[in-house]
Amino acid sequence: MSESYSFANYIEDLRRISGETNDEDEIIRYVGPLAQRLALQKSWLQQEHYDCDSEQGFLAHLLHEEPDHTLAVFVVSWLPSRGAPPHDHGTWAVVAGVEGVERNIRYKRLDDGTCADYAELEVKSTLDAGAGELICMKTGGIHSVRNETDQITLSLHTYGKHINYTTRSQFNLETNEKKDYKVLVQ
Ligand SMILES: [Fe+2]
Repeated sequence: MSESYSFANYIEDLRRISGETNDEDEIIRYVGPLAQRLALQKSWLQQEHYDCDSEQGFLAHLLHEEPDHTLAVFVVSWLPSRGAPPHDHGTWAVVAGVEGVERNIRYKRLDDGTCADYAELEVKSTLDAGAGELICMKTGGIHSVRNETDQITLSLHTYGKHINYTTRSQFNLETNEKKDYKVLVQ
């Protein structure tokens, strides 16, 4: 096996894996180590990927998606002391740290989900994820992200489908409000 692992290799592997199985546990198990490898070798990384959005606090740079918006890969840049509120993705997600440390808090849902705009969450785990560390979620998994450092951080995000084309939510921990979540994509 060649030592180099290019972005094109990663996309080929994503297509092969998603062609072989629909089981999200399996997809995550196969994609995780490959995302880790790509995140650490960084040949795909461009200077413009550090550009961020001061209003949102982060910016998702789209690197790849299939014509039907599946297999979407982003590098996301996060401003210091900023982050994303608790949210789900409406698809599976594999996140690999690229630069710096991002605090990921995972939540579990306590209510029965019968109310469309209401959700009670409880913290399940906290992980300060650095370069090459993985956060993997199946559809419905909820997390928040925060850059507690004083530098821009970067992470590589791979989703079963482009996250602005899925049905997904953000959650307010104070009010228990649940509402649609769309992000700014470059
Ligand atoms: Fe996320």
